[in-house]
Amino acid sequence: MKILVTGGGGFIGSNFLHYWFRRHPKDEIINFDLMTYAADPRNLVGLERYNYMFIKGDIAERELIGKAVRDVDAIVNFAAESHVDNSINDSSRFVHSNIVGVHSILEAVKRYGKRFHQVSTDEVYGSLPLNSSLRFTEESSYRPMNPYAATKASADHLIRSYFNTYGIGATISNCGNNYGPRQHLEKLIPKTISNALEWRKIQLYGNGKQVRDWIYVDDHCSAIEAILKKGVVGETYLVGADGEVPNIEMVRLILKELERPESLIEHIKDRPGHDARYALDASKIREELGWSIKYNISDGMKATIDWYRRLK
Ligand SMILES: NC(=O)c1ccc[n+]([C@@H]2O[C@H](COP(=O)([O-])OP(=O)(O)OC[C@H]3O[C@@H](n4cnc5c(N)ncnc54)[C@H](O)[C@@H]3O)[C@@H](O)[C@H]2O)c1
Repeated sequence: MKILVTGGGGFIGSNFLHYWFRRHPKDEIINFDLMTYAADPRNLVGLERYNYMFIKGDIAERELIGKAVRDVDAIVNFAAESHVDNSINDSSRFVHSNIVGVHSILEAVKRYGKRFHQVSTDEVYGSLPLNSSLRFTEESSYRPMNPYAATKASADHLIRSYFNTYGIGATISNCGNNYGPRQHLEKLIPKTISNALEWRKIQLYGNGKQVRDWIYVDDHCSAIEAILKKGVVGETYLVGADGEVPNIEMVRLILKELERPESLIEHIKDRPGHDARYALDASKIREELGWSIKYNISDGMKATIDWYRRLK
């Protein structure tokens, strides 16, 4: 298979490249990435031994992405602005990469008739009440609550409209919060590990009771693999690991693992419009595609901490 991976220099995209080559060492992958601040060349170390090529470019550049799409069997799009806090400060880049960029990929996919998979987020469904047992399903309504989520929701709508109108071969996955190696230090888990290792304060928004549905990044990668191999075009798959944990508990778990005191936690003013809880029902992908997770939080977190320790 020859795959175009967009956004492969970032967190999940680079883990996907390593995951895919471990499982399919004879395949060919082109990584197309603008290498923004969120990308890290160290994420790509080791790929040179495979049939791997890199193109530096912006997915919103129609001609460049068109040429890359033309020559592959399938496209998996990870490229996006991904940090909610940045989208609250200025969402221009989010509109550019997450909406205009996806539109430009769709135009090429339509033109050349290629298989396309979009990596999306559970944040498109908005927020669930704390202390409830409600969970998102593929049938849940879209209610994005911050600019990042709104741009990802827009992209999902565009993709469905292209499937419905032009019959493109597209699938979408909406995944919960990922953790694992190769994530930018701006995000909660790497920031907590890195600060704890240095005995620095760990800032938590509000009371830290916001619940996220955590999944180890390799489990997300195996879900995307299952969708590419067995998924039905036009369908959406929720990807989750039944990993609901409040942010403060995740931080406590890391502190315990690193033998650091909880006094390092510092509560700061809450993020505006902070979603209370995300929780996913991933029955569809488990039952229809036979996908399952391999990592529990304890094993996944150990592997994650090891990675950041080695980076020091
Ligand atoms: N991190 C999570 O927990 C999570 C959960 C669910 C879904 N997602 C989605 O998964 C995808 C990957 O997330 P991530 O955490 O790896 O993000 P990331 O910020 O770590 O990486 C994004 C990558 O996209 C590249 N990029 C950004 N704009 C680009 C453009 N215009 N053209 C080409 N490349 C561009 C960046 O250089 C970077 O390498 C995103 O679409 C995100 O919405 C993330």
